[in-house]
Amino acid sequence: MSSPTSIAESLPEPLQARLQEALRQAGAHPEAAVCELLRLLQAAYGWIDDARLHLVASLCGISPVRVEELCTFYPLVLRQDPGRHVLRICDSIACHLAGARKLLAQAQGQSGVPLGESNGRYSILPHVCLGLCDRAPAALVDGHTVVAPLSAEALAAQLDAWEAEP
Ligand code: FES
Repeated sequence: MSSPTSIAESLPEPLQARLQEALRQAGAHPEAAVCELLRLLQAAYGWIDDARLHLVASLCGISPVRVEELCTFYPLVLRQDPGRHVLRICDSIACHLAGARKLLAQAQGQSGVPLGESNGRYSILPHVCLGLCDRAPAALVDGHTVVAPLSAEALAAQLDAWEAEP
């Protein structure tokens, strides 16, 4: 694996600048910038591979193990390549009661991909409460688009659309 320094130098300049700005805002506590650095790197590359994890650890002056712990704690951080798209379907209590389990089974059946794994095009991930309990069952597409309530028809159409992408 490349050194954190060479990884940092290989990043596009605008991204380097955003990372540096996050560190500047953290001031004397660079470890406070960990989540923002992870967010910026994931937004740029789709997920956090080992090299990016080590880069964050190096920039923040903490151990890679500590960064890994944070990645494990926050389900929005992806440590595996999810493919081009990510569909998160909430499976917490309100959504569970509103049919999330059936939707997850439908998604797995239609895609043929086990939940949490990628078929190269997309991943379908069960997710903890998205804060949309009043609109259950809720889903989040590509980390920014809420679909709530998610219907079986909308789910099928979304997966079809992703399958049809070149
Ligand atoms: S339980 Fe699904 S959004 Fe809260």
